[in-house]
Amino acid sequence: MEENPHSPHLLIFPLPFQGHLNSMLKLAELLSLQGLSITFLNSHHSHKRLLRYTDIHARFAQYPGFRFKTFSDGLPDDHPRTIHQITEMFDALYLSARPFLKKMLIDTLPPVSCIIGDGILGFVPDVAKELKIPLIHFRTVSACSIWAYFCIPLLIQAGNIPLRGRHEDMDRLITTVPGMEAFLRGRDLPGICKDNDINDRIFQFVLDATLKSSEVDVLLLNTFEDLEGPMLSHIRTKCPKIYTIGPLHLHLETRLAASNNMESFKSSNSLWEVDRSCMVWLDKQPPQSVIYVSFGSLAMLTREQYLEFWHGLVNSKQRFLWVTRPGSVGGDDDSAMELAEGTKERGYIVGWAPQEEVLAHKAVGGFLTHSGWNSTLESIVAGVPMICWPCLADQPLNSRFVSEVWKIGIDMKDVCDRKVVERMINDVMVERREEFVKSAKNLATLARRSISDGGSSRGNLDLLINDIRNMSFQTHCS
Ligand code: UDX
Repeated sequence: MEENPHSPHLLIFPLPFQGHLNSMLKLAELLSLQGLSITFLNSHHSHKRLLRYTDIHARFAQYPGFRFKTFSDGLPDDHPRTIHQITEMFDALYLSARPFLKKMLIDTLPPVSCIIGDGILGFVPDVAKELKIPLIHFRTVSACSIWAYFCIPLLIQAGNIPLRGRHEDMDRLITTVPGMEAFLRGRDLPGICKDNDINDRIFQFVLDATLKSSEVDVLLLNTFEDLEGPMLSHIRTKCPKIYTIGPLHLHLETRLAASNNMESFKSSNSLWEVDRSCMVWLDKQPPQSVIYVSFGSLAMLTREQYLEFWHGLVNSKQRFLWVTRPGSVGGDDDSAMELAEGTKERGYIVGWAPQEEVLAHKAVGGFLTHSGWNSTLESIVAGVPMICWPCLADQPLNSRFVSEVWKIGIDMKDVCDRKVVERMINDVMVERREEFVKSAKNLATLARRSISDGGSSRGNLDLLINDIRNMSFQTHCS
């Protein structure tokens, strides 16, 4: 493949966190397959980890118009970069990345004709506007959570937030978010709404970035019309041009298969070392007998919470595969390994798994998840029912939709008790299995339909590419 000198030059700029990098790298590969030239911007820190644990360099080298560029996230190398330092991380990123982005856009040749910026980065629209470069926002979260973010001014006006953690407020129905009046409770609101202070910087970052999405040329979402149609109709009242192109991992897999590049979709975009030994273990387990447990890339568990999950899993007598991300459990980290010794026959623990492959494995029958949006979509595509234990950001809303709207699992939010864990595992794996599997398989079929010929996500990707070409043409002519 040779680079086409007339191809639009796109800059893709994600928040350099795992969930965001994962979906934006998939988007980048999808667009590279269509012959677009792409510069992908990542932090030095995350990029170093991608180079260490994945084959991204070789993978993207097959696209002649593709290049990576890195910037400093403003933090020292040995900074822990966990969710506990999230405000510091955003502050440092804004300070460091904003001037870098501006200079890079001025200096880069061939000039950037369009930016796809992570919709959570509120400074990108300011820079794009100043330099008169068309901007597309990509939000890596669910449409339902974006709609809730758009409704924050209404929630404040109605006195629904800040919640201040009062028990009665957590369970009361909130009727201020159109389309969710029948099932939205205080405890289902996105993480930022539960803090006491609406002047908190993260609250303001998210609100500001969301409201800016209504001013950009296009809003791209990793979802599909049959999954979130009603929520999308509401967002369309704020952002007229929205393209849903998800589930992105399935979309990419399908297009790679069509171009005979099956190797690529087995590759990972992981910031941790993938332990593939769990696939060998899964191969030896009976069909649909294993509950897969993972709380994503940001959530942290206390040792007490870890032990409640542990006892619940063991008491359920089900087989389990558990991802314990390095550093994700407070207290004595060796506890994970000691416990693993105790249940070798039925359980298997890894530091990081090839999650998409795990969920697609025939031995997996359920997913105990933190309801991150990538994980939710991956489970939907695999037709695997979920037990949700959301921790932060969009997760509390995603889990409510899983249980109340899509009816493909149970929401355990705000409870961490071994008896509840055991009961819910039993519900998903045995008692209510049939009803959940039926709805999950139905959604999986709709997901596949959306990216096949004539499907909404497939058509939207074509429209997006067309728009990018037009934007690029206009940028060159102006
Ligand atoms: C958070 C948000 O909650 C999410 O909705 C947002 O889009 C990004 O930030 P995170 O904890 O990263 O999420 O979860 P998720 O969005 O589910 O992404 C995690 C990714 O890591 C998934 O794609 C998953 O497949 C991958 N993963 C996770 C692995 O590859 N291996 C693992 O062992 C665990």
